[in-house]
Amino acid sequence: MELEGFVEAGSQEAALLKQIDKDRLPKHVAVIMDGNGRWAGMRRLPRVAGHRAGIESVREIVESSARLGVQVLTLYAFSVENWKRPRSEVRTLMELLKEYLRLELDSLHKNNIRFRAIGRIQELEEPIRKQLYEAMRITEGNSGLLLNVALNYSGRAELVDTFNRLLAEVKQNGHTPSISEELISRFLYTSGIPDPDLLIRTSGEMRISNFLLWQIAYSEIYITPTYWPDFRRKHLLEAVLEYQQRERRYGGI
Ligand code: IPE
Ligand code: IPE
Ligand code: MG
Repeated sequence: MELEGFVEAGSQEAALLKQIDKDRLPKHVAVIMDGNGRWAGMRRLPRVAGHRAGIESVREIVESSARLGVQVLTLYAFSVENWKRPRSEVRTLMELLKEYLRLELDSLHKNNIRFRAIGRIQELEEPIRKQLYEAMRITEGNSGLLLNVALNYSGRAELVDTFNRLLAEVKQNGHTPSISEELISRFLYTSGIPDPDLLIRTSGEMRISNFLLWQIAYSEIYITPTYWPDFRRKHLLEAVLEYQQRERRYGGI
């Protein structure tokens, strides 16, 4: 069902939706889901309570993006740098990821969503790897929203992996191609996917934190003070509406 039939008539969401031009939707929305710890801290809860609460936001944003007609949604769930956190927090994040996949895979599949994990997946522990590969295999043929989840991801690590894969191919084929932007793009984790049109960061931090460095060259950046566990459909619609009010110039006039 499209989002129109889903939001409550007369609600703020319905009003926002009415203002959105369906012909100018961002094709690819990328999100730095930040602020779980602060959300919990404000409630005197342990940080992991914020991560748990953030899952509900993930569900709602995935579903809303699919119904709205966004083609690609990339969620930054765990960075290479996040291993610096206390072991117990990292463990809980991994457990929550497994739980999310266990509970949501059916519904993702039924909604024609294609799931992909991007990042150094091979370094994750075996049970998670298995679940991720299984989710990718099951949803591979779906033609609706592409949901990319960035896990053990960093933009610089992605570029290192990209150049190493390029080198490996050169060694195998024996001929050296000339380097071009297209060639580099083809070896990225996001090969074949359009670059993000809209990059959203929750919780107000004005930084990129090593996310999609190559791909965000001309993305529109939307930073909201809302903490990730509070980020709901209404906030996504607000971000899309603001995106549609921006003038994208790509260096021209
Ligand atoms: C984002 O929330 C979730 C991850 C990085 C895994 P944080 O845990 O970074 O929350 P803050 O930024 O400390 O509030
Ligand atoms: C970025 O958030 C990573 C994810 C959302 C997964 P962080 O909370 O790790 O980023 P910094 O430390 O504020 O830059
Ligand atoms: Mg953070």
